[in-house]
Amino acid sequence: MQTHHLILAALLIESLLAAAPPAVSAWRPWPPPPPRNGTAHLEGLGASKKFEGSSEFVKLQYHMGPVLATSITVHPIWYGPWPPPQKRTIRAFLRSLSPSPSPPSSSSSKIPSPTVSAWWRTVMLYSDQTGANVSSTVFLGAEKSDTHMSRGVRLSRMDIQLIVRDAVTSRTRPLPIDSGGVYLVLTSPEVHVDDFCGQVCGFHYFTFPSVVGYTLPYAWVGNSATRCPEVCAYPFKIPAYVPGRRPESPPNGDVGVDGMVSVIAHELAELASNPLANAWYAGMDPSFPTEIADLCEGIYGTGGGGAYTGQLLMDERSGAAYNVNGVGGRRFLVQWVWNPVVSYCSGPNALDQ
Ligand SMILES: *[C@@H]1O[C@H](CO)[C@@H](O)[C@H](O)[C@H]1NC(C)=O
Ligand SMILES: *[C@@H]1O[C@H](CO)[C@@H](O)[C@H](O)[C@H]1NC(C)=O
Repeated sequence: MQTHHLILAALLIESLLAAAPPAVSAWRPWPPPPPRNGTAHLEGLGASKKFEGSSEFVKLQYHMGPVLATSITVHPIWYGPWPPPQKRTIRAFLRSLSPSPSPPSSSSSKIPSPTVSAWWRTVMLYSDQTGANVSSTVFLGAEKSDTHMSRGVRLSRMDIQLIVRDAVTSRTRPLPIDSGGVYLVLTSPEVHVDDFCGQVCGFHYFTFPSVVGYTLPYAWVGNSATRCPEVCAYPFKIPAYVPGRRPESPPNGDVGVDGMVSVIAHELAELASNPLANAWYAGMDPSFPTEIADLCEGIYGTGGGGAYTGQLLMDERSGAAYNVNGVGGRRFLVQWVWNPVVSYCSGPNALDQ
């Protein structure tokens, strides 16, 4: 994990030298080398409760900046061709982040535990110097599409900021600029973004007033289906260097999109707790921070670490792996995030909760 971040730091220095804005969260769920003692033995093991993550080495610190404490509205920007079923899966995940108002009469509509909104509760544990916590409310806001890829199929990091600018300044139905607005640029499989697959599956940052006219938190996540699912859609595709491990079946039947859901979760957790790169992160340099989801990459359940995802749930209908339930009977697999109260990675499907 350390090596991983050193490599990442070196690569980010390169991107700095290239005068591009650094990615606050350059991330890939690249699992550390597989355990020597075969994965078959580790499958289904429920050991090492409470030891997810390595708290000895973690010096997560608060740097006095704000967290996203007012209701968050996520505005997806669909870049490239996006089939409606893929959009529906991602929208369903975003709608699942806030606890749904369930009328007491219709208990059948209640989402069973563990829920996506319970997953978000770990992110809500982060507060700022005013004592305000990350908001419990996350809405799906207005959306924008750029089906014809007006900025081409090869994008730099700066292009992502320009795509946000295009969406909020569009002459027809621009995306609103609202106080809790965050902008989520989602690229289809044909689109390449600098460092995609090699080092990153997504990143988040904020727009510059000189470029966009406002300081707006935004994130980019790419669909890796045809380029590198073994990197960005792990564990639905397994890298060749992990022998003998079967890929998990994706809960919404789409390796690329089900993989994106966990990266979207990762970026939103970090955007909320470190929107301006001056709130919650570990490490000495804000240009290369280790943030609350970086600390738990590859961990989805109790016992996770190394190449082992931790204990997952299995969808009895399809055999797919998942760890949280969302709206409309949807299921998702999302990585855990660092819990600052107990100082380890946690999630709602932990066996000891
Ligand atoms: C693998 O783990 C099992 C169970 O703990 C142990 O009996 C076995 O000796 C281990 N094998 C190797 C090669 O370490
Ligand atoms: C707000 O953050 C504090 C500090 O981490 C935490 O103790 C508290 O439980 C949080 N409140 C909520 C509602 O999550």
